[in-house]
Amino acid sequence: MSNDRHQGSARGGGQPAVIAIDGPAASGKGTLAKRLAAHFRYAHLDTGKLYRGVGVAVLRSGGDPSDAAAAERAARSLDAAGLDDARLRTAEAGAAASKVAAHPGVRAALLALQRDFARRPPGGAAGAVLDGRDIGTVICPDAPTKLFVTASVEARAERRLKELQASGAAAIYAAVLQDLIERDHRDSTRSAAPLKPAEDAIVLDTTHLDADATFAAAIAAMTSRNT
Ligand code: CDP
Repeated sequence: MSNDRHQGSARGGGQPAVIAIDGPAASGKGTLAKRLAAHFRYAHLDTGKLYRGVGVAVLRSGGDPSDAAAAERAARSLDAAGLDDARLRTAEAGAAASKVAAHPGVRAALLALQRDFARRPPGGAAGAVLDGRDIGTVICPDAPTKLFVTASVEARAERRLKELQASGAAAIYAAVLQDLIERDHRDSTRSAAPLKPAEDAIVLDTTHLDADATFAAAIAAMTSRNT
């Protein structure tokens, strides 16, 4: 499986190829991003980790993620190399992330790092896959390939529940569902870079698709669009 634009080498003019993936929590965008990056040998940036890192840093310092000044300070001093902490995957970190992510100053502080990754993918990769909430709309609006991955909130809650349980966390469906509903609301109604598909994004509904079927659907849609 392949398509014209992403055929293993940089696009014309030496510009890296960029695949921008956005979507709500637990929609499958992270798994798809990893699969596409491996398939095309591109570098991958999970931008949610940056916001989770900022949220956790604020919590660690005893601050409130809704406090714009505290969140901005944490974003400016974020250590991008230290984002593999297991605490980042917790529901608490996700909720803190979506609070700090609503502050325009936090988003501004993380902008250059994300754009640099897309412009100069690490390891000399010919392209980059970035996944998040505003990659196609704000970070890389010129990306030739934009995917918006979504699924029903119930299907996403089931998936997140399984992920949390697999990581050993005690979680119940009703609480996970409520958390996603609140996060969806915060992410799509904020004024700074709200979650929404770019006008030219390919929308993939993964409610009834597993990871393999989602990957196949993405490749098929990209091929038929020739992006
Ligand atoms: O893994 P999951 O989809 O639950 O969330 P994530 O991608 O790790 O993102 C956590 C939170 O960070 C989201 O709820 C967003 O509020 C925020 N975020 C954002 O605003 N912009 C991004 N590019 C990525 C994440």
